[in-house]
Amino acid sequence: MLQYISNKGGGDPVDLETAILDGYATDGGLYVPEYLPKISADQLAKWKSLSYPALAFEILSLFIDRAAISAEELRQIIQRSYQTFEKEEVIPIKELESRPETYIMELFYGSTLSFKDVGLSFLINLVDFFLQRKKKRLSIIVATTGDTGPAAASYIAGKSTLDAWVLYPKGLITEEQERQMTTLTQQNVHPVGVYHCPDGGDDLDLVISQLYANQGFKEKVNLSSVNSLNWGRIMIQTVHYFYGYLQVVDEVGDDLSMVVPSGGFGNLCAGGIARKMGLPVKQLVIANNKNACLHRIFSVGRFSKAPLHETVSSAIDILIPINFWRYLYFCVNGDTARIKQWTEEFDRSGSVQFDQEIHQAYSDGYLSMSISDDMTISTIKDVYESEQYLLDPHTAVSVAVANSLTGQLAHHKVICLSTAHPAKFPGIIQRALGSKMLPEDATHPSIETAKRRCQKGYTADLAHLEEALLHSMSAHWEENEIRTTED
Ligand SMILES: Cc1ncc(COP(=O)(O)O)c(C=O)c1O
Repeated sequence: MLQYISNKGGGDPVDLETAILDGYATDGGLYVPEYLPKISADQLAKWKSLSYPALAFEILSLFIDRAAISAEELRQIIQRSYQTFEKEEVIPIKELESRPETYIMELFYGSTLSFKDVGLSFLINLVDFFLQRKKKRLSIIVATTGDTGPAAASYIAGKSTLDAWVLYPKGLITEEQERQMTTLTQQNVHPVGVYHCPDGGDDLDLVISQLYANQGFKEKVNLSSVNSLNWGRIMIQTVHYFYGYLQVVDEVGDDLSMVVPSGGFGNLCAGGIARKMGLPVKQLVIANNKNACLHRIFSVGRFSKAPLHETVSSAIDILIPINFWRYLYFCVNGDTARIKQWTEEFDRSGSVQFDQEIHQAYSDGYLSMSISDDMTISTIKDVYESEQYLLDPHTAVSVAVANSLTGQLAHHKVICLSTAHPAKFPGIIQRALGSKMLPEDATHPSIETAKRRCQKGYTADLAHLEEALLHSMSAHWEENEIRTTED
């Protein structure tokens, strides 16, 4: 049975259920599988024509023990997760007319219009499955730069096993994203808008790790998280890399590169893991905005924190790409002692400079680039003017990188991952197109409906957030316990 351990080496190996329900490992590290399952080229060729749900079943089966979840149960969880997606193919892929052999993988057809739906719909159904079996309830806390929050809230809404506490930096996400959380009416969703977050979502992650470290509170409210610190997010996100590759290449083994708008490295960590499992993707390309945290790591070998820039691609305004530490584990032959040492050095000094050998080990097969807001805006405009196809600002960052690195990506196909629907960012689209009238593709019925709903939620100041959450989450948990006992 495949076991999961902390990338920092503490605690005992655990099964998948524990890794998923706990979120963080007991030593504050990130769970990783003890080994990565390998997939041969022959096997991939056999999977070439599978639908996304069928492929998800095959790949997830490599990580999930049949004794824990039967084949039928897994099929049902997958079906439940993707049946509400707007497009039958779940993840449509389209070739750009203005850039032949460049494809856009549209990952935004779930209920809240971003790629987070692809991971969270499955993960939350999996968590719910485990909890129903255990007859247990969890308080889920997530921080968001605008897209994880809405997805987590939407899939948790109405689930009797879960309560969602969704923290967002007030003023640093779009009104459309905020309304996706605050207009939900279900009683088990609690959005918290947090004022004064100089480091955006990273400030909120810090408070979450403090709450996790508070053992008494953690146990009292059964605290967990479905942010990309949760292994389940990474596991399910490997699937869209396999799917995109198999859909686009003529034959398994053909070269292909994938360009990914990146912030916390959750998405690309899954891409790197997919490649280590046997996916023959040639280059994985990190598309950063001005907050070039990953570009620094991959170009000059330095993991360091810099002041936050507010950009037009706000969901990737992220300073600390936490999943890089998870990926690094696989690049240093599972040397947990070194991961622990580096993360401690970063916590102490705010910076780690990797030596040449380590830099080479993790950056092999990666390219990276940082894109300015002007380039993002002009890319939206150029693509729209040339073929009436509307990119959201994050997808535009990846297309801008593909354009800039044309020399290095020539002679083979390229997939740009499209991580959000433009309707979440109408202000930026207006700015890019220079017109007050939004094209129809920049709107979505769910966004329009949310404009006509009342908003609910809490607000707090970052300076008091930890105390405010300890109070509200405890009170809510106690109230719920009383209600359940009375029932
Ligand atoms: C629209 C969008 N694109 C890209 C990303 C970056 O993903 P990751 O943090 O996994 O690198 C995010 C979220 O962080 C997002 O919301």
